[in-house]
Amino acid sequence: MKRVVVTASLPGDALDGLEGRARVRVLNSRGILSESTLQKALRSADGAVTIPSDPVSERVLEGCPRLKVVANCAVGTDNIDLEAARRLGIAVTNTPDVLNEATADLTWALILGVARRTAEGDRLLRRRRFRGWKPDFLLGVDLGGKTLGIVGMGRIGRAVARRAAAFGMRVIYSQRTRLPVSVEDALGARFFGLDDLLARSDVVSLHCPLTDATRHLLDAGKLASMKKSAILVNTGRGPLVDEDALVACLSRGHLFGAGLDVFEREPLLAPGLAALPNVLLLPHVGSAGAETRAAMARLAVADCLAVLESREPAHRVV
Ligand code: GLV
Repeated sequence: MKRVVVTASLPGDALDGLEGRARVRVLNSRGILSESTLQKALRSADGAVTIPSDPVSERVLEGCPRLKVVANCAVGTDNIDLEAARRLGIAVTNTPDVLNEATADLTWALILGVARRTAEGDRLLRRRRFRGWKPDFLLGVDLGGKTLGIVGMGRIGRAVARRAAAFGMRVIYSQRTRLPVSVEDALGARFFGLDDLLARSDVVSLHCPLTDATRHLLDAGKLASMKKSAILVNTGRGPLVDEDALVACLSRGHLFGAGLDVFEREPLLAPGLAALPNVLLLPHVGSAGAETRAAMARLAVADCLAVLESREPAHRVV
């Protein structure tokens, strides 16, 4: 029977699909797996179900001679060396689509939370600092009539754009390739180059994949080119933003605030980030709706099994 290693416990009934079809080992680590622990765990596996924090590097893949498939329980596959997988004939799959709505919801939780300073209000109440309603107390940003700039108008970016109409926001977007006009019209979104988008947006939200080309897409210079009053939201991947530069930028009062669900050196935060009052920080929970995570787990397990049983997986990346 084929051996499958699942690197973290999965929500829902996903593992039921492997019963009687594969010998399963679920790793139960409390923190992030190191490359050497991961390699040891996968050494004699035929299939792996992995999560975004697993460092599936070339070294790991080369040390797993039986491995036929890495099924990542995530849409992003930046934790996997895709080139090495291709070279070694190891299939890589992901879990797109099922997480679009949950991630877009959480993006809006961050946009609204930063704009209306919800975490600051919560902290203030817990410290017994609320003395009663005042006209000029805890003033935030009104979103209606403002411009939302979406960087990466893929499936999640579009789900974020669709929600913008409900808040009366204008939507602009930037990405490598412009969408067909019919799609732009349906989304009510206009295309701009990144520099123009950053200069025009009151809220910038990142939804592009992390690749060599998008690492530090927002560096110190690009952050400085945003409006002083703007909000930055990142539910994509931490390294899209130079996090030290973001801390420097916020510390000198450039930007109204930032909402971050992902971090450059996850789970660590850049020094100084947590001390800033105008950042809203979440622990990488973009897709963490119970049904969504169960659906992701089912997709990953099904694709792992598909490759092991010589069927075409539904979501092959490599
Ligand atoms: C989670 O971060 C994902 O890529 O699905």
